[in-house]
Amino acid sequence: MDKFIIDGGERLYGKLQAQSAKNTVLPLLAASVLTDEQVKIRGVPTICDVENMLRILTEVGCRIKRQKDCTVIDSSGAVSHEIPPRLTKELRSSVFMLGSVLTRFRRAKISYPGGCDIGLRPIDLHLSGLKRLGVEICEEGGYIECKADKLVGAEILLDFPSVGATENIILAAVKAEGITVVRNAAKEPEIVDLQNFLNAMGARVRGAGGGTVVIEGVKRLHGVDYTPIGDRIEAGTYLIAAASCGGEIEISGVPPENIAALLHKLRENGCKIHTKNDKIILRSDGKLKSVDLVETMPFPGFPTDLQAQYSALCCTCTGTTLVVENLFETRYKYAAELKRMGADVTVRGRTAVIRGVEKLHGARVTASDLRGGAALVVAALKAEGQSDIVDLSHIDRGYADFEYKLKKLGAKIRRVRI
Ligand code: UD1
Repeated sequence: MDKFIIDGGERLYGKLQAQSAKNTVLPLLAASVLTDEQVKIRGVPTICDVENMLRILTEVGCRIKRQKDCTVIDSSGAVSHEIPPRLTKELRSSVFMLGSVLTRFRRAKISYPGGCDIGLRPIDLHLSGLKRLGVEICEEGGYIECKADKLVGAEILLDFPSVGATENIILAAVKAEGITVVRNAAKEPEIVDLQNFLNAMGARVRGAGGGTVVIEGVKRLHGVDYTPIGDRIEAGTYLIAAASCGGEIEISGVPPENIAALLHKLRENGCKIHTKNDKIILRSDGKLKSVDLVETMPFPGFPTDLQAQYSALCCTCTGTTLVVENLFETRYKYAAELKRMGADVTVRGRTAVIRGVEKLHGARVTASDLRGGAALVVAALKAEGQSDIVDLSHIDRGYADFEYKLKKLGAKIRRVRI
């Protein structure tokens, strides 16, 4: 097991390039089984979630070549419609394989997916969408077995704009007979990127980002060479860290409109932010005032994946912030750890009240989920003294070269094996 040792109190200065978005790369990798031809994806980040997805692809019979800047997936030898349960447990995004494997083999078998323990995370919307496309689903003994003689386009209205369900339905509809319309679809930039990727393979998908996605089934898809969008959550994490610690950083690779909700809050906190094309430049004196309320919402609202990191920033703002988590019911596990660092946080259900304190102090804390772990890093960078952040397995699922990038900005952070 690894830990970070962080000596807090340094301001952050410098330039960073965002990694390719984890939440785009994962569905794109799943989508690569939709063609027999080679799929090349540029800048795939070296993070555990991606490595697990590549392992799943290998186990269903794909050949993977990991080159310096390009990952090549050759699915011509894919043979299995069964997603290995051992890997499914590690990675929630394994559920995307359902749509693409169904398209490829007309059947798919998967065990219930794992991922961060941040709430119930059901997949009922995925399954009811697939049923509308003509899929028969049998749930037994922790497995989901799907079968379809043929996939047929349909009108689907999602009860909630679920990112994963929208993506899974698109993957299952892309070669279905006729037209599929997904209403109340998720609008996240990652859905738009999936649409662009599939269209570059010869698919006919339109409307992503606007709430209604229309998929016209095509007979075949071909190979593609694709560069995914930058990771808005990774970029947001560094921006929050610099805002909290003070300093000036420039992040490239993420269009500002993809994290407009965060930039809006950081400006209210007192940061100076300039944007130009895909560059975001943030300047902060490290003395921030609190905003009254931050509430997570589907895109373009404030992203749940930045709730924990932003809450860490609120801990040392002057004033009180009310945080409401509307997407995942148990996404405050990190709060108890922040308290060990001197934070004044009260959590009741989906709400956290954060009263700003003058300073945090270093402590030994445990990262129990990906974004909660990143929040502890943000807090430790600001805190006085040394912090040990134990168990990096969750953080490593989402941040490539986390400590190198932070060191480049001037943070005192090192990784130690324990
Ligand atoms: C994706 C992101 C995750 C992010 C989340 C919300 C990936 C790989 N992961 O997760 O980082 O936090 O979007 O932006 O892209 N729900 C149901 N039934 C379903 C599906 C979802 O009730 O069948 C509920 C969930 O419990 C949750 C909400 O819908 O309350 C949002 O979930 P969803 O958008 O599906 O998130 P994920 O796709 O799992």
